[in-house]
Amino acid sequence: MPTTFKSRNAPPKASAMVEALRGLGYNTQTALADIIDNSISAGASEVRVEFVWAETESRIICLDNGIGMSAAGLDIAMRLGERNPLEERSKSDLGRFGLGLKTASFSQCRRLTVSTVGNDGMQSLRWDLDYLANSPDGGWHLLEGSHPGSEKLLEPLSDAGKGTLVLWEDLDRIITPGSTVQDFLNLADKVEQHLGMVFHRYLEGSRPRLRIFLNGQPIKPWDPFLTDHPGKPYNPPAFKHPSIQGIEAECHVLPHKDMLSPDDFERMGGPEGWTAQQGFYVYRNERLLLAGSWLGLGTGRSWTKDEAHRLARIRIDIPNSADADWKIDIRKSTARPP
Ligand SMILES: Nc1ncnc2c1ncn2[C@@H]1O[C@H](COP(=O)(O)OP(=O)(O)O)[C@@H](O)[C@H]1O
Ligand SMILES: [Mg+2]
Repeated sequence: MPTTFKSRNAPPKASAMVEALRGLGYNTQTALADIIDNSISAGASEVRVEFVWAETESRIICLDNGIGMSAAGLDIAMRLGERNPLEERSKSDLGRFGLGLKTASFSQCRRLTVSTVGNDGMQSLRWDLDYLANSPDGGWHLLEGSHPGSEKLLEPLSDAGKGTLVLWEDLDRIITPGSTVQDFLNLADKVEQHLGMVFHRYLEGSRPRLRIFLNGQPIKPWDPFLTDHPGKPYNPPAFKHPSIQGIEAECHVLPHKDMLSPDDFERMGGPEGWTAQQGFYVYRNERLLLAGSWLGLGTGRSWTKDEAHRLARIRIDIPNSADADWKIDIRKSTARPP
């Protein structure tokens, strides 16, 4: 028998808790990548992301063709703190904390609707931060169906007949006073670049496992290692960890500028440019967590990114069973070597 202490139930106030969770430090790119992780875990082969500009009514939609959820599954998926992060996950599961769908979405919007077609036909639930803020009881009011007037936005899912649609409305962190359609499209470009990088191993090949479309255009993979490029000094072997399965490293030296076309040189610099993109590329279940970092290594003075090493890029693969050792964070954008 565990000792029992005198206690009181102390649940957080929903509106305050949710507002606090908005500040976890996602940006639109990392938030959408977290939404797409769920699509991949659900076996989707196609994800369609739409940026729809309509001034303050602008919205972002993510539709996948995965297995969808049952009515009970959707109810659990929408709750915060429902799945224990300590629970063992299937090898292909990209999730961990049971929070991403909610925290990533709340970081960008005030109204999240998730609609899914699984075993129970079409089901929709939504969180509305204004509704929570205006509920004096501080309760966790999970709303049913879509926001009045937004029913039409779920039609792409009912037409597809299978999968899950995540709808972000009231994009208060994206559409701020003075935002223009051009700002919105520039953001869509950044998202395209980020997703092409994070999921490049899923998007590669003549018959890719996954296709992601952004406003109807297929997203191209960005391979940090320029695999098989004739200008590469050598193609490195993969080193496997002697005892732990699924841990692998591969040390690449990219071709010198003289060996690349001007276009390739520009593109291969990556989102942050050549010097910033050097270092380790850490993948968890083939999904990129960190794009170019020396991971705080080095005794005394930690290694810095310098010109001399700008062609060095090292691939590291870790399995999701190593999450605790590598201190994967909720946003899946940091990792620390054990
Ligand atoms: N697109 C989707 N298709 C099917 N199931 C989903 C989808 N998105 C979320 N889910 C379900 O919701 C759960 C919670 O998602 P999330 O909050 O991102 O946490 P995590 O991915 O860490 O489990 C997932 O474990 C999954 O069961
Ligand atoms: Mg997730």
